[in-house]
Amino acid sequence: MAAAVTRLCWAPQCLRSLHMSVGVQKAKTGAEQLWLARQRRDPYVKTAHAQNYRCRSAFKLLEMDKEQKILQPGHHVIDCGAAPGAWSQVLVDKVNSLGKDPAARVGFVLGVDLLHINPLEGAVFLPKCDLTDPATHRKISALLPSGQADVIVSDMAPNASGIKDLDHQRLVSMCLSLLDLSDSVLRPGGSFLCKIWDGGESDLIRDKLRQRFQLLRTVKPKASRMESAEIYLLGKSHRNKRAAN
Ligand SMILES: C[S@@+](CC[C@H](N)C(=O)[O-])C[C@H]1O[C@@H](n2cnc3c(N)ncnc32)[C@H](O)[C@@H]1O
Repeated sequence: MAAAVTRLCWAPQCLRSLHMSVGVQKAKTGAEQLWLARQRRDPYVKTAHAQNYRCRSAFKLLEMDKEQKILQPGHHVIDCGAAPGAWSQVLVDKVNSLGKDPAARVGFVLGVDLLHINPLEGAVFLPKCDLTDPATHRKISALLPSGQADVIVSDMAPNASGIKDLDHQRLVSMCLSLLDLSDSVLRPGGSFLCKIWDGGESDLIRDKLRQRFQLLRTVKPKASRMESAEIYLLGKSHRNKRAAN
C-alpha cells in the first residue's frame, strides 16, 4: 500500500486537482484518503502553498541546486516532465529568464510534458509531447536558442503500475531516451539531472552516465520522501559528444 500511495502523486488526475488543494478535496478510495492525510501533514506542501509553488517538488530542486551548484543565471535549461510546473518556477528564478537581475545573464527555460502545463512567465512550454519520441527531441532542438542546452533536468515519471520492478524499468528506459537527447543538444561541459526509482537497472544507467559525464553523483534530497524509492542521478561536465557512445 505504501508504494501505491507514494506514487499516486505522479498520476495525471492527482497533479492539478490534489497537489495544492488538499484542504477541499474529498478522497474516494482508501489510497486517496491516505495520500490526502499525508499531504495535509506534509510541511513541504504547506510551504509550497505559502510560496506559490505549483507543487512541493520545487523544494527537491531547490535543495539539490543549493548542494550541487547545478544552475546559473544565463543557463538554457530543458525541464523534462515539467507539469504542473514547479521545477520550471524554480528554473525561471535561478537562470534569470525574466531578466529580473539586470546585472546577470538572461537564461532560457523550456518545459516539456505529456500533459498540458499552465502558462508560466519566463518559461516556454511544449505540452502534449512524449520525451521518449525522437520527434519531440527535434522540436526541442528547434526551440532552443542556438540549438544547445546547458542543463537538462528530469523529474519525469510514468503512471505507476504498482509493480515495483516494472515501474523501475520503465522509468530507466525513459531516462535512457533523455541521454539520447543529451547527446544531441547538451553542450560539452553541460549537466544532466534525472530522477529514477532505484532498482536492478540503476547501475546500467549509472554506467551510461559515466560514459558521458566526467562526474556522477547520486542524490536523495530531504524533500524526497524516505519511503519513496526515488533518487536523482546528477551527471556533470558532459564529455565531448564525439567521444561518447
Ligand atoms: C512528478 S511529475 C513532475 C513534476 C514537476 N517536476 C513539477 O515540479 O511540477 C512527472 C511528470 O512526468 C510526465 N511524464 C511522464 N512520462 C512522460 C513522457 N514520456 N514524456 C513527457 N512527460 C512525461 C508526467 O506527465 C508528469 O507530469
